[in-house]
Amino acid sequence: MNALDAATAGTNELMIPDLLEPTMVDGVARYDLSIAPSSHDFGTGVDAETISYNDQSILGPTLRWTSGAALELHVTNGLEDGTTAHWHGADVPAEDDGGPHSLIGPGETWTADFDVIQPAATLWYHPHLMGTSAEQVFAGAAGMIIVDDDNPNAATIPQTYGVDDIPVILQDREFTADGQLSFEIDNDDDGDLNPDLTVNGTLDPYTTVPAGPVRLRLLNGSQARIYELQVSNGSMVKIASDGGYLPAPASIDTLVMGPGDRAEIIVDTSAGEVMLVDANFGRVLELRPDPNLPAAEHPPSTLAAIDMISPDEVDGERTFVMDEVGDGWGINGQRMDMARIDQTIAFNDTEYWTVTVEDGIHTFHVHQTQFQIVSINGEPPPPEDAGWEDTVLVTEDREVVIAARFNSYPNPNIPYMFHCHLLDHEDLGMMGQFQVIEG
Ligand code: C2O
Ligand code: CU
Ligand code: CU
Repeated sequence: MNALDAATAGTNELMIPDLLEPTMVDGVARYDLSIAPSSHDFGTGVDAETISYNDQSILGPTLRWTSGAALELHVTNGLEDGTTAHWHGADVPAEDDGGPHSLIGPGETWTADFDVIQPAATLWYHPHLMGTSAEQVFAGAAGMIIVDDDNPNAATIPQTYGVDDIPVILQDREFTADGQLSFEIDNDDDGDLNPDLTVNGTLDPYTTVPAGPVRLRLLNGSQARIYELQVSNGSMVKIASDGGYLPAPASIDTLVMGPGDRAEIIVDTSAGEVMLVDANFGRVLELRPDPNLPAAEHPPSTLAAIDMISPDEVDGERTFVMDEVGDGWGINGQRMDMARIDQTIAFNDTEYWTVTVEDGIHTFHVHQTQFQIVSINGEPPPPEDAGWEDTVLVTEDREVVIAARFNSYPNPNIPYMFHCHLLDHEDLGMMGQFQVIEG
């Protein structure tokens, strides 16, 4: 498909995934998810075979969690293959993390239970079984998680789901001539890039919003694609990174998002329609203002305090080199081995991790913790990249040092993952395991 012209209108109404409200049982918020084969019309007029949760046709319902709540999540596997359910960006015990060790076999139900110990953020969930993550996510298995908290500064930011608080799940896809999904794993430096952009499973979408500030919760749930986003009227304000609010809103021209990344931005439709555009695809999403819808306020000048990790806290340093290994991809010269623990970290330690690239384009994702970027090529990050992150873009020209506290949950048995979030690379071995051990 050619790049879409930002001056023309979108053709398909944006699908908004259902919101899944929990059922409360003895003070615990219970969510039931079931993953199964489904079919979905992306806007081509053809029902394509997909995978989704809770009969969504594509993707899964958006989960709304409350900071401080106790959760119980039940995930039933209606596929003929194994799967897992990973809560990407969530700070949870290793046994609840849904990584490759938490197989849910066909017909089985897996239960995760944990407390939400992190602030408001946009997270997501997706399968994480070794070797099949790319295929299952590409087929539609992914959903958004919205964590809410009682931060008074955020009270006036647009937060009516699907009205002025819009989930925007970016996924590039490839279709066969008869409209079915066409999946392949690609061993290339930049993974498998697909020719068509879907947003919440919709090709060439538009959505109707109030005339005023609109919040977009952007999630790059693509196999390998990196987006370079702008808005047609020139301004967007970033209010949150992967792990929650920035200290203050940051005006930006361009937002670069690698696979796994999230960002929340405010765009203003009070002067007319706004197009979200990408350097490669052209128009991503048309926002059509309706003056009859009540408009929210602009964000306040302070959003959330961030407890910055100071160099004095640092107990140790590690280096991670991302490179080709054998006929796949690896980290520090090794491809993923479920039987090998690559890094052992003392519970309560704070560390600096330097991530460098010998070959390829990658995003480095760490489970369980939200980290802070200390430097990019030796320079401190700009304000819009100085908040909480769990996924960061790294290339041969972009060496990143991150700081993380490992103070949530020790577990001597089950490891957490760190990996490239280009799903091709992850499935081809670019993943390692760390354990947090009580000293
Ligand atoms: Cu989005 Cu290891 O995960
Ligand atoms: Cu993750
Ligand atoms: Cu990679």
